Amino acid sequence: MGFLETLAEKIPFLTSNKLIGVDIGSFAIKIAEVVQKGNEYVLTTACYAELPPTTIVEGSIMNSAAVTDTLIELIAECGIKVKQVATSVGGSSVIVKQIMVPNMTPDELDEQITWEAEQHITFSVDEVNLAYHIIGESEVEPGKMDIILVAAKRDMISDYTTVLYEAGLTPVVIDIDAFAVMNVFEVNYPEEMENVVALVNIGASFTNVNIIKNGIPIVVRDFTIGSNSYTEEIQKNLGVSADEAEKLKRGDTESESGEEVISQEVVEIIDSVSEIIAGEISRTIDFYSVSHAEEKITKIMLSGGGTLTPGLQRIIEEKTDISTHFLNPFRNIKVAENLVSNKPEIVTKYAPMMAVPVGLALRRRDDS
Ligand SMILES: Nc1ncnc2c1ncn2[C@@H]1O[C@H](COP(=O)(O)OP(=O)(O)OP(=O)(O)O)[C@@H](O)[C@H]1O
Ligand SMILES: [Mg+2]
Repeated sequence: MGFLETLAEKIPFLTSNKLIGVDIGSFAIKIAEVVQKGNEYVLTTACYAELPPTTIVEGSIMNSAAVTDTLIELIAECGIKVKQVATSVGGSSVIVKQIMVPNMTPDELDEQITWEAEQHITFSVDEVNLAYHIIGESEVEPGKMDIILVAAKRDMISDYTTVLYEAGLTPVVIDIDAFAVMNVFEVNYPEEMENVVALVNIGASFTNVNIIKNGIPIVVRDFTIGSNSYTEEIQKNLGVSADEAEKLKRGDTESESGEEVISQEVVEIIDSVSEIIAGEISRTIDFYSVSHAEEKITKIMLSGGGTLTPGLQRIIEEKTDISTHFLNPFRNIKVAENLVSNKPEIVTKYAPMMAVPVGLALRRRDDS
């Protein structure tokens, strides 16, 4: 299912449907290519490179040259030939809402969508790109239909597409992070499709929550707390550098500050941030539950680098009282032999961070 306005219509000479998924995260850029042979999916390319600190802050690209340079290096290092890209944006510049509109034809809706959006989003409609997806006839109000409305700030989309062009790539699909995670979930957990599942992707700056059923997003919310909050709290409370705080967060403490006293303190700081993240997830779940009391969420599925934080999964499970699991992006996607031997960390250490790029790589031109 494709949602966001793609650039493809504006670039008619692009006919190949080969594309790579490029996830420009604030912590790291991730690239994936997935080849489909019948029902089988194979991950053929996977690359990862961290960005210098403050290159991207709260979703805004502050240093576009650093992003472009890192992209160019990654393309060379991974030997990427495909130029067409599916990418995604997220955070507070994106709003996704399920809304009800009077029954009308798609053509009529195309004309009406700006007016409808004005009633439901806090951004000015002049500064956003709008997209929608018709779910179907409303069950609660006859004569109306449910649609999913997506609004993403145009400036931000333009910043993300510009760095891709500068690196010699052509963005053909612009998605949002939460939908990319949904793509990767659908391919890997088809047996879960009829259940209500909360997909939670915890990155460095943001957490994307998408509560879905039958491949339809019901509640989508991004909040601006992510794994950076751990690093910042450790830095502030222990008076250490950002690098040291990052190591402490990950448990890499052998040399500098490995003393027992600090590690207990670190555990407490980490748990207190985990409580805040779990609290926000829980609030989103409550928001869903108010209007969908009869259909309980069966599972929470975690992805993103932030989910590697020790104790976080347990704290989310305790706070929400919903069984919480790690989403394996490679459960139904084979990893090409050469990647397994050359980059084993892609399917192990980095696997949670590959959910978004793999979800993007699963998009096809004719999918939008
Ligand atoms: N082993 C680990 N333990 C704890 N945290 C980790 C580990 N490895 C990576 N992280 C954290 O995961 C985060 C990166 O995750 P991810 O790649 O999903 O974020 P991103 O997509 O770059 O960020 P965003 O989408 O929020 O802009 C970083 O904050 C990093 O510190
Ligand atoms: Mg991310």
